[in-house]
Amino acid sequence: MKKSVRIAAMALAGIMSISLFAGCGANNSSGSSASNSSTATSSPAKDKKIKIGLSLPTQQEERWVRDKATMEEAAKKAGVEIAVQVANMDAAKQDSQVENLISQGIDVLILAPHDAKAAASTVDKAHKAGIKVIAYDRLVMGTDVDVYLSFDNVKVGELQGKWLTEHLDKGNIVWLAGSPTDNNATLFKQGAAKYLQPKIDSGDYKVVMEQPVVDWKPDNALKLMENALTANNNNVQGVLAPNDGTAGGCIQALAAQGLAGKVPITGQDSELSAAKRIVEGTQGMTVFKDTRKLGEAAIDAAIKMAKGEDPGADQKVNNEKMDVPSILLAAEAVDKTNIDKILIDSGYLKKEDVYSK
Ligand code: BGC
Repeated sequence: MKKSVRIAAMALAGIMSISLFAGCGANNSSGSSASNSSTATSSPAKDKKIKIGLSLPTQQEERWVRDKATMEEAAKKAGVEIAVQVANMDAAKQDSQVENLISQGIDVLILAPHDAKAAASTVDKAHKAGIKVIAYDRLVMGTDVDVYLSFDNVKVGELQGKWLTEHLDKGNIVWLAGSPTDNNATLFKQGAAKYLQPKIDSGDYKVVMEQPVVDWKPDNALKLMENALTANNNNVQGVLAPNDGTAGGCIQALAAQGLAGKVPITGQDSELSAAKRIVEGTQGMTVFKDTRKLGEAAIDAAIKMAKGEDPGADQKVNNEKMDVPSILLAAEAVDKTNIDKILIDSGYLKKEDVYSK
């Protein structure tokens, strides 16, 4: 922590905690901040306003825009400060942005790494500065991580694989995976393999292309799909696309050959554009991962960790260095049979947006 704890800031924090305490009847469920400040014995240092650093890999996909907005909102509600940096899919940039956050005196770092392995040294820098780290959505590999907060990502892959096998009995498939630098991509693929591998082994499925999509870029997926279609004279019957962005790229390539809607294809993230494609029939499914819940859980865990409390991570995920205490939220498969119930009734997407042309 920075030594430069300013008297003025402490006084301000004191005033804020008093006003928070006074106003705690006003329906604020983040009453924990009030109870923290209500103990007569609490030291002035403890009453300093908590500052969270948030480092995100990108804002180019809808889900990460939502994650950012949710965390900013949750931090505001809880009366804590949040400083946000976006790395634009650049590991070196993410590292220097985190150095900057560390120098701003953050208490806890929430880090969604662009590169799971490269981020290990970034995490180590935070730890050297006495800052606890939450690996957000994506695990950091090969170093000590305090908490991993994500969805059950193997399950996400299982939902994709299961859906594909339920909608394609036999045929040639294109099996794309997420970015090789993202540990989630490995987990999604592991999950999907539980369903695809038996079909491959039995000869029902022939994999005509199996490739990762570098940086999860829709353009890269488009090119891979074009290549797969060209190399096989359009003889492709199914596509495992790892997320909605890459599904969008693949569907563009299928559409150019008049095949959109004829080839079952998966996705994940419940982006608005994917929901629209499900309704129009060009994308088969997506996976709903409620980023609102994930973002809120991250801020909640960060505040607890800043106060030295237990964030309640009761699961374990190995990152090749340790079993990382983890909190994993559930994910659900969405297709045209349940899209209204899961995405619209939950308020995640608006009916008028999903059904507008
Ligand atoms: C996330 C997905 C996302 C992908 C690309 C993964 O780590 O879990 O939700 O689609 O990154 O940003």
